[in-house]
Amino acid sequence: MIELEVPLADRSYPVLVGAGARHRLLEVLPVGARRAAVITQSAIGWEVDPGVEHRRFTIGDGEDAKHLGTVEDLCRDLAQWGLTRGDVIVAVGGGVVTDVGGFVAAVYHRGVPVVHVPTTLLGQVDAAIGGKTGVNLPEGKNLVGAFWQPSAVLCDTETLGTLPPREYRSGLGEMAKYAFLGVDDLPDLPLDEAVAACVRLKADVVASDEREGGRRAILNYGHTLAHALETEGAYGLRHGEAVAIGLVYAAEVACRLGRIDGDRVAEHRRVVAGYDLPMHVPGDLDAERVVDLFSRDKKAVAGVTFVLDGRRGVEPVPVDDRALLLDALEACRG
Ligand code: GLY
Repeated sequence: MIELEVPLADRSYPVLVGAGARHRLLEVLPVGARRAAVITQSAIGWEVDPGVEHRRFTIGDGEDAKHLGTVEDLCRDLAQWGLTRGDVIVAVGGGVVTDVGGFVAAVYHRGVPVVHVPTTLLGQVDAAIGGKTGVNLPEGKNLVGAFWQPSAVLCDTETLGTLPPREYRSGLGEMAKYAFLGVDDLPDLPLDEAVAACVRLKADVVASDEREGGRRAILNYGHTLAHALETEGAYGLRHGEAVAIGLVYAAEVACRLGRIDGDRVAEHRRVVAGYDLPMHVPGDLDAERVVDLFSRDKKAVAGVTFVLDGRRGVEPVPVDDRALLLDALEACRG
């Protein structure tokens, strides 16, 4: 088992990575917790044993469950069961479950402890780490949420063995991002070590900028185009697949701005291809519309802010050259 820490002073917490990590739940439960509300989805086939009185609460399957109605339903169920601030929520599932479960933990009784047990690759390398929680609005993804750090995260890599291939590949899209944020030789690492390396890097970034005042934005590398493609919705891409295309696009933008050279763009394509991820925008993409969507991204304080590679590494960069953004999109057509 690889044991890591997200160092946030009195809110620091352990992250355990390895096969069977879910069985360590009892030892990471907050001291004194008498009851555990296990929030999960019916499609998640993984049980956990908190070792204290517990009850299972299931939310709807898929991203559609990630809305305020689910939060209200859960809070009412928890109130009827009598969960208190001295108890704990355990979120078992992918990003939807840990985002919703984490948000419920942030707001129910103004905050109860939560332990995340992410069962997808995407959850283990990204969603469950770092305290971002929230739900979608019809107007956009993750528009309502809170920063609420978990008490512990158990990344049980055994759960990854049964993921549908496309779900697994989607996680690889988030993983590919870390190859450009400073994790060396990522594609060559065994799975446990690769997950741990991503967690280690994310923990370091979160520790330095918990609330995304600056550096944390680098974790959104590849996400500006990805969010636009997902908002367009019609392309049927999973999040990590959209991120993979977004990484290559961000490299094309950075190259046009003189921040990186063609070799570095080729490296982006190589890493993405090595994970068998898509790198081309959909053939019927409405480029003008996609560029319009860039300015709606949450990172954008004014105009369009991209996260781009460069000599100082990956960093947020304002970009106001629409023609350049359109040209880079053309370079990403298959
Ligand atoms: N998923 C990006 C972040 O946690 O900041």
